[in-house]
Amino acid sequence: MPSSNTFKIITIDGGAAVGKSSTSKGLAERLELMHVDTGSHYRTLTCAILGSGADAEQSETVSKILEAIKLSTQIDGRTARLGINEVVPADSDLRSPEVNAQVSKFAAIPEVRKKLFAYQRSLADLAREQQYAGLIMEGRDIGSIIFPEAAYRFFLDADEATRAARRAKEGQTDSIAARDKMDRTRLAAPLVCPKGATLINTADHTLEEVIGKITHLIGS
Ligand code: CDP
Repeated sequence: MPSSNTFKIITIDGGAAVGKSSTSKGLAERLELMHVDTGSHYRTLTCAILGSGADAEQSETVSKILEAIKLSTQIDGRTARLGINEVVPADSDLRSPEVNAQVSKFAAIPEVRKKLFAYQRSLADLAREQQYAGLIMEGRDIGSIIFPEAAYRFFLDADEATRAARRAKEGQTDSIAARDKMDRTRLAAPLVCPKGATLINTADHTLEEVIGKITHLIGS
Protein backbone atom coordinates (compact mmCIF):
# COMPACT_ATOMS: atom_id res chain seq x y z
CA MET A 1 0.00 0.00 0.00
CA PRO A 2 1.53 3.37 -0.97
CA SER A 3 2.34 5.84 1.78
CA SER A 4 2.20 9.56 1.02
CA ASN A 5 1.60 12.94 2.57
CA THR A 6 -0.63 14.05 -0.26
CA PHE A 7 -4.44 14.08 -0.33
CA LYS A 8 -5.75 10.63 0.60
CA ILE A 9 -8.93 8.92 -0.54
CA ILE A 10 -9.98 6.08 1.77
CA THR A 11 -12.95 3.86 0.94
CA ILE A 12 -14.80 1.80 3.54
CA ASP A 13 -17.36 -0.69 2.29
CA GLY A 14 -19.37 -3.42 3.99
CA GLY A 15 -22.83 -4.64 4.93
CA ALA A 16 -25.17 -3.22 7.57
CA ALA A 17 -23.88 -2.80 11.13
CA VAL A 18 -20.31 -3.94 10.42
CA GLY A 19 -18.96 -0.73 11.98
CA LYS A 20 -18.42 1.43 8.88
CA SER A 21 -19.68 4.68 10.40
CA SER A 22 -17.87 4.55 13.74
CA THR A 23 -14.66 3.46 12.03
CA SER A 24 -14.93 6.16 9.35
CA LYS A 25 -15.76 8.93 11.83
CA GLY A 26 -12.89 7.86 14.11
CA LEU A 27 -10.44 7.84 11.20
CA ALA A 28 -11.72 11.22 9.99
CA GLU A 29 -10.94 12.71 13.41
CA ARG A 30 -7.57 11.07 13.71
CA LEU A 31 -6.37 11.83 10.17
CA GLU A 32 -8.19 15.18 9.62
CA LEU A 33 -10.30 13.88 6.76
CA MET A 34 -13.67 14.87 5.40
CA HIS A 35 -16.19 12.09 6.14
CA VAL A 36 -19.03 11.06 3.83
CA ASP A 37 -21.66 8.41 4.65
CA THR A 38 -23.19 7.44 1.29
CA GLY A 39 -25.80 5.25 3.01
CA SER A 40 -27.32 8.53 4.19
CA HIS A 41 -27.46 9.68 0.53
CA TYR A 42 -29.64 6.69 -0.38
CA ARG A 43 -31.69 7.24 2.76
CA THR A 44 -32.16 10.94 1.86
CA LEU A 45 -33.41 10.11 -1.65
CA THR A 46 -35.64 7.38 -0.18
CA CYS A 47 -37.21 9.91 2.24
CA ALA A 48 -37.77 12.40 -0.57
CA ILE A 49 -39.37 9.88 -2.92
CA LEU A 50 -41.56 8.32 -0.23
CA GLY A 51 -42.50 11.86 0.88
CA SER A 52 -43.74 12.54 -2.67
CA GLY A 53 -46.06 9.55 -2.34
CA ALA A 54 -44.22 7.20 -4.75
CA ASP A 55 -42.89 3.71 -4.14
CA ALA A 56 -39.92 1.89 -5.69
CA GLU A 57 -42.11 0.05 -8.23
CA GLN A 58 -43.33 3.29 -9.87
CA SER A 59 -40.26 3.82 -12.04
CA GLU A 60 -41.60 6.66 -14.22
CA THR A 61 -42.77 8.67 -11.21
CA VAL A 62 -39.46 7.99 -9.42
CA SER A 63 -37.54 9.29 -12.48
CA LYS A 64 -39.64 12.48 -12.55
CA ILE A 65 -39.11 13.07 -8.83
CA LEU A 66 -35.36 12.53 -9.24
CA GLU A 67 -35.21 15.05 -12.10
CA ALA A 68 -36.71 17.74 -9.85
CA ILE A 69 -34.29 17.10 -7.00
CA LYS A 70 -31.33 19.47 -6.60
CA LEU A 71 -28.49 18.02 -4.53
CA SER A 72 -26.58 20.26 -2.12
CA THR A 73 -23.99 19.79 0.63
CA GLN A 74 -23.85 21.00 4.21
CA ILE A 75 -20.67 20.55 6.21
CA ASP A 76 -21.27 19.56 9.79
CA GLY A 77 -17.95 19.22 11.67
CA ARG A 78 -15.95 16.76 9.57
CA THR A 79 -19.02 15.23 7.92
CA ALA A 80 -20.38 16.43 4.57
CA ARG A 81 -24.14 15.87 4.53
CA LEU A 82 -26.42 15.67 1.52
CA GLY A 83 -29.26 18.15 1.30
CA ILE A 84 -32.14 18.16 -1.13
CA ASN A 85 -33.01 21.62 -2.35
CA GLU A 86 -30.78 22.88 0.51
CA VAL A 87 -32.56 20.90 3.25
CA VAL A 88 -30.73 18.12 5.15
CA PRO A 89 -33.21 15.64 6.68
CA ALA A 90 -32.99 14.83 10.40
CA ASP A 91 -31.12 11.62 11.31
CA SER A 92 -34.29 10.27 12.97
CA ASP A 93 -36.11 10.55 9.61
CA LEU A 94 -33.22 8.93 7.72
CA ARG A 95 -33.18 5.93 10.08
CA SER A 96 -36.94 5.46 10.57
CA PRO A 97 -38.30 1.88 10.34
CA GLU A 98 -39.97 2.78 7.02
CA VAL A 99 -36.73 4.04 5.47
CA ASN A 100 -34.83 1.03 6.87
CA ALA A 101 -37.37 -1.23 5.16
CA GLN A 102 -37.42 0.60 1.81
CA VAL A 103 -33.92 1.99 1.22
CA SER A 104 -32.43 -1.11 -0.44
CA LYS A 105 -35.29 -1.20 -2.95
CA PHE A 106 -34.55 2.37 -4.01
CA ALA A 107 -30.78 1.80 -3.95
CA ALA A 108 -31.23 -1.03 -6.49
CA ILE A 109 -32.73 1.39 -9.06
CA PRO A 110 -30.05 2.43 -11.62
CA GLU A 111 -31.50 6.00 -11.97
CA VAL A 112 -31.19 6.52 -8.21
CA ARG A 113 -27.52 5.48 -8.30
CA LYS A 114 -26.93 7.61 -11.41
CA LYS A 115 -28.30 10.64 -9.59
CA LEU A 116 -25.57 10.24 -6.95
CA PHE A 117 -22.52 9.03 -8.92
CA ALA A 118 -21.03 12.36 -10.10
CA TYR A 119 -22.07 14.09 -6.87
CA GLN A 120 -20.25 11.50 -4.72
CA ARG A 121 -17.10 11.71 -6.85
CA SER A 122 -17.19 15.53 -6.70
CA LEU A 123 -16.91 15.42 -2.90
CA ALA A 124 -13.18 14.67 -3.28
CA ASP A 125 -12.80 18.11 -4.93
CA LEU A 126 -14.81 19.72 -2.15
CA ALA A 127 -12.59 18.08 0.47
CA ARG A 128 -9.48 19.36 -1.34
CA GLU A 129 -10.94 22.88 -1.61
CA GLN A 130 -11.79 22.83 2.09
CA GLN A 131 -8.19 21.83 2.87
CA TYR A 132 -8.91 18.48 4.48
CA ALA A 133 -6.00 16.03 4.45
CA GLY A 134 -8.21 13.61 2.52
CA LEU A 135 -11.62 12.07 2.11
CA ILE A 136 -13.04 8.99 3.81
CA MET A 137 -16.20 7.70 2.14
CA GLU A 138 -18.24 4.75 3.41
CA GLY A 139 -20.88 2.69 1.64
CA ARG A 140 -21.45 -0.42 -0.45
CA ASP A 141 -19.79 0.45 -3.79
CA ILE A 142 -17.19 3.06 -2.91
CA GLY A 143 -14.07 0.98 -3.54
CA SER A 144 -15.67 -0.84 -6.50
CA ILE A 145 -17.56 1.88 -8.43
CA ILE A 146 -17.16 5.38 -6.98
CA PHE A 147 -13.38 5.44 -6.28
CA PRO A 148 -12.00 2.16 -7.70
CA GLU A 149 -8.68 3.97 -8.21
CA ALA A 150 -8.34 4.96 -4.51
CA ALA A 151 -5.08 3.86 -2.93
CA TYR A 152 -6.70 2.84 0.37
CA ARG A 153 -9.70 0.56 0.11
CA PHE A 154 -11.13 -1.49 2.98
CA PHE A 155 -14.00 -3.92 3.34
CA LEU A 156 -15.39 -4.48 6.84
CA ASP A 157 -17.26 -7.63 7.81
CA ALA A 158 -18.62 -9.29 10.97
CA ASP A 159 -20.75 -12.34 11.70
CA GLU A 160 -24.52 -11.91 11.63
CA ALA A 161 -25.06 -12.33 15.39
CA THR A 162 -22.55 -9.56 16.23
CA ARG A 163 -24.14 -7.23 13.71
CA ALA A 164 -27.71 -7.91 14.88
CA ALA A 165 -26.64 -7.29 18.49
CA ARG A 166 -25.03 -3.96 17.54
CA ARG A 167 -28.16 -2.77 15.74
CA ALA A 168 -30.43 -3.84 18.61
CA LYS A 169 -28.18 -1.89 21.00
CA GLU A 170 -28.80 1.21 18.85
CA GLY A 171 -32.54 0.65 19.40
CA GLN A 172 -33.30 0.37 15.68
CA THR A 173 -35.93 -1.73 13.89
CA ASP A 174 -33.93 -3.02 10.95
CA SER A 175 -33.85 -6.37 9.09
CA ILE A 176 -30.17 -6.21 8.29
CA ALA A 177 -29.89 -9.73 6.85
CA ALA A 178 -32.71 -9.07 4.36
CA ARG A 179 -31.19 -5.70 3.40
CA ASP A 180 -27.75 -7.24 2.90
CA LYS A 181 -29.21 -9.99 0.73
CA MET A 182 -30.88 -7.40 -1.49
CA ASP A 183 -27.69 -5.32 -1.63
CA ARG A 184 -25.52 -8.32 -2.53
CA THR A 185 -27.79 -9.74 -5.21
CA ARG A 186 -28.91 -6.61 -7.08
CA LEU A 187 -27.64 -6.00 -10.61
CA ALA A 188 -26.70 -2.34 -10.11
CA ALA A 189 -23.51 -1.91 -8.06
CA PRO A 190 -23.93 -5.00 -5.82
CA LEU A 191 -22.24 -5.10 -2.43
CA VAL A 192 -18.90 -6.89 -2.97
CA CYS A 193 -15.49 -6.83 -1.39
CA PRO A 194 -13.68 -4.79 -4.08
CA LYS A 195 -10.81 -6.58 -5.82
CA GLY A 196 -7.59 -5.60 -4.07
CA ALA A 197 -9.32 -4.16 -0.97
CA THR A 198 -8.19 -5.16 2.54
CA LEU A 199 -10.77 -7.26 4.39
CA ILE A 200 -11.13 -6.64 8.15
CA ASN A 201 -13.35 -8.69 10.44
CA THR A 202 -14.60 -6.17 13.00
CA ALA A 203 -16.09 -8.85 15.29
CA ASP A 204 -12.53 -9.86 16.25
CA HIS A 205 -11.38 -6.34 17.22
CA THR A 206 -12.41 -3.32 19.24
CA LEU A 207 -13.21 -0.09 17.38
CA GLU A 208 -9.87 1.39 18.49
CA GLU A 209 -8.05 -1.66 17.15
CA VAL A 210 -9.76 -1.39 13.75
CA ILE A 211 -8.94 2.34 13.55
CA GLY A 212 -5.34 1.62 14.60
CA LYS A 213 -4.98 -1.17 12.05
CA ILE A 214 -6.25 0.99 9.17
CA THR A 215 -4.10 3.96 10.26
CA HIS A 216 -1.08 1.66 10.29
CA LEU A 217 -1.92 0.17 6.87
CA ILE A 218 -2.21 3.58 5.23
CA GLY A 219 1.08 4.58 6.76
CA SER A 220 -0.10 7.60 8.77
O1 CDP B 1 -25.98 2.07 8.38
P1 CDP B 1 -26.26 0.82 7.61
O2 CDP B 1 -25.01 0.06 7.34
O3 CDP B 1 -27.34 0.00 8.16
O4 CDP B 1 -26.85 1.26 6.19
P2 CDP B 1 -26.47 2.51 5.35
O5 CDP B 1 -25.00 2.58 5.16
O6 CDP B 1 -27.17 3.69 5.89
O7 CDP B 1 -27.08 2.14 3.91
C1 CDP B 1 -28.47 2.01 3.70
C2 CDP B 1 -28.70 1.32 2.38
O8 CDP B 1 -28.28 2.19 1.32
C3 CDP B 1 -27.97 0.03 2.15
O9 CDP B 1 -28.62 -1.11 2.69
C4 CDP B 1 -27.90 -0.03 0.63
O10 CDP B 1 -29.08 -0.54 0.09
C5 CDP B 1 -27.79 1.43 0.24
N1 CDP B 1 -26.44 1.85 -0.11
C6 CDP B 1 -25.98 1.56 -1.37
O11 CDP B 1 -26.66 0.91 -2.16
N2 CDP B 1 -24.76 2.03 -1.77
C7 CDP B 1 -23.99 2.73 -0.94
N3 CDP B 1 -22.83 3.19 -1.39
C8 CDP B 1 -24.43 3.00 0.38
C9 CDP B 1 -25.66 2.53 0.77
